[in-house]
Amino acid sequence: DDETPSIVVHPTHKISKINDNIYGGFTEHMGRCIYGGIYDSGNPRSDENGFRKDVIEAMKDINVPVVRYPGGNFVATYHWQDGIGPKEHRPKRPELAWLGIETNEFGTDEFMKWCEVVGTEPYLCLNFGTGTLDEALGWLEYCNSKQDTHYANLRRKNGREEPYNVKYWALGNECWGPWQVAQLTKEDYAKKAYQWAKALKLLDPTITLTLCGETGYSSWDYYVLKECVKWDVHGLSGDNTKSLIDMHSIHIYTADKEHVVNATAPRAAERAIEMAMSLIDLARIENKVPESVPRQTICFDEWNVWDPVRAPGELGAEEKYTLSDALAVSVFLNAFIRQSASMGMANIAQSVNVISPLMTSKDGILKQTTWYPLLLFSKYMRGHTIALSVRSPEYTGRTNPAWIRNTIATPYLDCSATISDDGWVSLAVVNVHETQDYSVSLEGVAKGKEVHVYTVGGGDVNDVNTTEVEKVKVLESTWNGEGESEFTFKKASLTVLRWKA
Ligand code: AHR
Repeated sequence: DDETPSIVVHPTHKISKINDNIYGGFTEHMGRCIYGGIYDSGNPRSDENGFRKDVIEAMKDINVPVVRYPGGNFVATYHWQDGIGPKEHRPKRPELAWLGIETNEFGTDEFMKWCEVVGTEPYLCLNFGTGTLDEALGWLEYCNSKQDTHYANLRRKNGREEPYNVKYWALGNECWGPWQVAQLTKEDYAKKAYQWAKALKLLDPTITLTLCGETGYSSWDYYVLKECVKWDVHGLSGDNTKSLIDMHSIHIYTADKEHVVNATAPRAAERAIEMAMSLIDLARIENKVPESVPRQTICFDEWNVWDPVRAPGELGAEEKYTLSDALAVSVFLNAFIRQSASMGMANIAQSVNVISPLMTSKDGILKQTTWYPLLLFSKYMRGHTIALSVRSPEYTGRTNPAWIRNTIATPYLDCSATISDDGWVSLAVVNVHETQDYSVSLEGVAKGKEVHVYTVGGGDVNDVNTTEVEKVKVLESTWNGEGESEFTFKKASLTVLRWKA
C-alpha cells in the first residue's frame, strides 16, 4: 500500500562516477595522531620505520586512497624544513595550535614513506599562517622536482632520489577561523591564494590545488570562489584548459545529544555541497571560465562527529563513539555517494586517535563503532552512483542545524546505491529510528540471485566498543531476493545489500 516504505533500485541508471578519494584520511600533528598513533618508535607493534603495523593494516583494510597531512590548525606555524634531514639536528619548536612541543621527529620523508607502505597518496596542506610563498615553493620542489636544483638535491641528499610526485596540495587550512594564529580576512586570503596558486602551478602545472573554503555557503566561500575560480588567464602554462584552483574545501563536524538529530545532522553536509557547487558555477559564469576548464569539485577535507565537550583528553579529541555516531558517519557517507558528481575528495578527521574510529594503546588497537560504516562503504560503495526511488517515513522534530528542516525532509531511512565496474550493485540503508524496525518493499534487486547482507548496529544507540566487548561490528548473512520482496531494516542500523547485476 501507499504507506509501506519502499526502495526501488535502478542499476542501469548511472548518475555519476564516484571518486575513490571520498574515502580519504587525515593525519595531523595533534594529540596522539602522529606520535603514538601512526608513529610509535620503539613499540614492539611498530616496524623498522617506527610505523605502527596495526594502524597500517587497518589503513590497508579500508584501502585508504589519500591522506591529508600535516594539519589542520597545526600547519599554520609549521615549517617543513624543521622536519627533514638527520633527526638529531631537527629543532624542537613550541607548537601554537595545540600548545604542545613539536619534536619534528616525524616529517615529510617519514610521511611519504608511510604513504608508500600503506599504499596511499599524500595530500599536503600549506602553511598560510607564518609560512611564506618561498617556503611553499621549496616544499613543492623538494617533493616533486626532478631537476638539478637546491631543494630537489636536498631530497636526494636525504636519501630519496626519485620525486614523490605529490599531486594534492591545499592552500591553507581554515584561514577564516578566529583560532588561527594568523587569521585572514576573505579579501586577504583570496589575494594570497591567487598569487600562491599561480606560482605553484608555474613550478608544477600537474598538481591539484584546493582552495580554503568554510562551510560551503558563507560569504567567505562566495568571495574566495569569485576571486579564485579562474582559468589560466595569463597563459602562464600556455594551456587554457588549466584551472587556477581545482577543488574547494568544506569542513563540517556534527554532534547532538539527541539520537535522531545526531544521526541525521550530516544531511547538512549534503546541502552544503549543493550550495558550494552553486557558488562555483556562479563564479565560473562571472569570470567567464571556458567550459574546457574542468568544473571545480568539493574537497570535504574534514568531516566527522565531534563534540569536544563530551570527549575526554586534553584537547577534547579522544572521542568515544556510540552506535548513534556510527549512523551519523553512515549518513555522511551516503551524502557523499549521492553527491558524487560534485565530490573530488573527502577526508575523515582524523585517521588515528584524534576524533577517530581507530584508537591505539601501547598494546593494541580498538576499532570504534564508526570504523565499521567506513569499512563497508570503502569496500563496497565504489564505482558509479545509481538512481534510487525511496519512500520513507519521515522525522518531523528538531534538526541540526535548524535550517535544514526548512530545506529538505528528514527520512528515517537514509539511502544511497552504487554499481561497481564489475557489475556489483550495493545498496546502503541507514535506519536512524531508535526503536522502530522497518519492513521495506524492495524492487530492482536481481531476481534469483543471492544477496549478501552486511549489518552494523541494530542495538542500543548508546552502544560503544571497548577492548573487552565489540558491541558494534559487521554481521554477515544472505537473503534470497527472489523469494521475498520485503526486507526488514533493523532499528538503529546500517545495512549494505550486495548482489551481482
Ligand atoms: O581536526 C581537528 C581540527 O579541527 C583541525 O586541526 C582544524 O582544521 C579543525 O578546526
